[in-house]
Amino acid sequence: MSTPPLILGLESSCDDTAAAVLRGPGDAPELLSSVVSSQTDLHAAFGGVVPEIAARAHTEKLDLMVEEALDAAGVSLTDIDAIAVTSGPGLIGGVLAGVMAAKGLAMGLGKPLIGVNHLAGHALTPRLTDGVTFPYLMLLVSGGHCQFLRVDGPEAFSRLGGTIDDAPGEAFDKVARILGLPQPGGPSVETAAKAGDPARFALPRPLMDRPGCDLSFSGLKTAVIRTRDQMTEAQGGLTEQDRADLCASFQAAVADVLAGKSERALSACDGLTAFAVAGGVAANQTLRARLTAVAEVAGVPFLAPPLRLCTDNAAMIAYAGLLAFEGGRVDDMTLSARPRWPLDRVAAPLIGSGKKGAKA
Ligand code: KG4
Ligand code: ZN
Repeated sequence: MSTPPLILGLESSCDDTAAAVLRGPGDAPELLSSVVSSQTDLHAAFGGVVPEIAARAHTEKLDLMVEEALDAAGVSLTDIDAIAVTSGPGLIGGVLAGVMAAKGLAMGLGKPLIGVNHLAGHALTPRLTDGVTFPYLMLLVSGGHCQFLRVDGPEAFSRLGGTIDDAPGEAFDKVARILGLPQPGGPSVETAAKAGDPARFALPRPLMDRPGCDLSFSGLKTAVIRTRDQMTEAQGGLTEQDRADLCASFQAAVADVLAGKSERALSACDGLTAFAVAGGVAANQTLRARLTAVAEVAGVPFLAPPLRLCTDNAAMIAYAGLLAFEGGRVDDMTLSARPRWPLDRVAAPLIGSGKKGAKA
C-alpha cells in the first residue's frame, strides 16, 4: 500500500498569509499544521485592505509561514509530495506572491504544483473537518464573499445565488464605521446588539420580495446611514441605547435575509447531506441560531467548521489540493494567478466586488 500524500498548502489571496501541512488520503485527512499571519494591523488605518501593502507583506511572510508550518507538522520540505496554492480569485498581487512562492518550491523540490480555487477551499472545508459526504449546501459569508453553492464533488459546484453588491461582512464593517465602533465591525456590532432592541428600527430586507437566492446588502447599509442621520438631526446625536438598537436591528435584518434565502436554497436542492457555512460572518451567534433552525426544518444537519478553518487559512487549500492530486490533476509552471475565477462556470457572473476583491 502506498503512503498517503503529504501536501503543503499556501494561501495569500487577501489579507492573511497562511501555510499548512496535510496528510491524505482525501477521505481521512490528517491536518498536521495550519499557521496564519494576519495583516489586519497593517490595513487598519486605511479602512480596508490596500492591495499593494497586502502583496508586499505576503511576499515578506510566505517563506516564514512555510517554515512555521513545516516545523509545527514535524516534517521537512523534502517529505512534501505536492505544493497546493491559491491561484485565484483574490487580490492579484497577493495571489501572484503565493503562486510565485509555490512555483519556486515546486521547481526546487521537483514536486508537483497544484493551483487551487480559494472558494473551492472554503466549499470543501466541511469534508475536511466533518467528513461530510456529497452533495451538501454551502453558504459562504465573509468580508469578501457571499454565495450559496451546491457541492456535488471536489470540482463540481453549482451556484444558486450570491450577493449582487456588498458581502455581509463588508456591511457589518461599514455599519460599525458609520456608528463609530471599532474594526473588524462584525464582532463590535454583535456585542453592541446584545443590549439592543432588534424591532426598534424597521430596516429593509433586500431582495426578499424577489424569487431566487441572490442577495444584496448595500441598501441595508444605506438605510442605517439614513436612520443615523435622521436621529442626529432630530436629537443632535445617538445615545448608547440608540446605537445598540440600530446594531440589533441591522443584525436582525442580515439574519432574516440570510435565513430566508437559505430556506429557498435548501428547498431548491434534493438529497442534501448537510447545510454548512464558512467565512468570518459565520461566527455571528444570532445568524448561527437562525441557520440552525432553518436546517432543522429542512431536515439536514447544520455544520459550522471551527472558526480558524472558517476564515481564510491554508488547510483548506492543502485539502482541495489533495483531492485534485488524488484525482490526477496537477498544474505546471504555466499556472497563472487569476483575480476572478468563478467556481460555477455556467452561472451568470456576480457583479459585486467588495473591499476584499473579486467575489467571482
Ligand atoms: O472570512 P473572514 O475572516 O475574511 C474574509 O472576509 O475573507 O471574514 C471577515 C469578516 C469581517 O468583515 C468581519 O467583520 C466579519 O467577517 N465577522 C463577523 C463576525 N466576526 C467576524 N460578522 C458578524 N458577526 C461576527 N461575530
Ligand atoms: Zn475566503
